[in-house]
Amino acid sequence: MEFVCKSADATKALAKKISSKITGGQVLALTGQLGAGKTTFVQGLAKGLKIKEKIQSPTFVLLKEYSIGKNHRRMKFCHIDLYRIEKIQDIEELGLEDFLGKKDVICVIEWAEKIKNVLEKISAKIIWIEFEYIGENERKLKVKTKNEKGKTTRQNLKLLTF
Ligand SMILES: Nc1ncnc2c1ncn2[C@@H]1O[C@H](COP(=O)(O)OP(=O)(O)OP(=O)(O)O)[C@@H](O)[C@H]1O
Ligand SMILES: [Mg+2]
Repeated sequence: MEFVCKSADATKALAKKISSKITGGQVLALTGQLGAGKTTFVQGLAKGLKIKEKIQSPTFVLLKEYSIGKNHRRMKFCHIDLYRIEKIQDIEELGLEDFLGKKDVICVIEWAEKIKNVLEKISAKIIWIEFEYIGENERKLKVKTKNEKGKTTRQNLKLLTF
């Protein structure tokens, strides 16, 4: 499914809508070039999840955990940014297994293509979203609704029904 967002606010608004459908254990895997709008999308997600802290592009921190607002009690939101990851060893040190697919954690990963193999191995609920730069204020978001077998999964469709 494809969405064209004509402003940063439109991207945030789409993320906010998606956030209302996300359940624990979900992993959103974001891909796309520098400045494509991944962090902007994460800010919209966080807003939808009633996270008060400001989401920033982690410069040196690769993984940051947030508590989710009242309506999603006891859940955590985990923002991972793999831009700086170079070695497989760095990934191991992150201890992603403590977060990915855990039923009380919602994970969003920027530059997720760097760990595609790791992600496909775990049976977490992964949704790939590809960000494409169209113009200064325009981005295309391609949400992958099909699984490896080419089947549209019910859980993915549910996420995109608003
Ligand atoms: N339609 C749009 N959607 C998202 N961001 C947009 C849009 N139009 C303009 N922008 C701007 O583009 C920039 C996107 O930066 P952002 O940090 O979200 O990208 P990123 O994909 O996370 O990059 P990086 O790979 O460096 O982390 C922001 O300054 C944002 O305001
Ligand atoms: Mg970013």
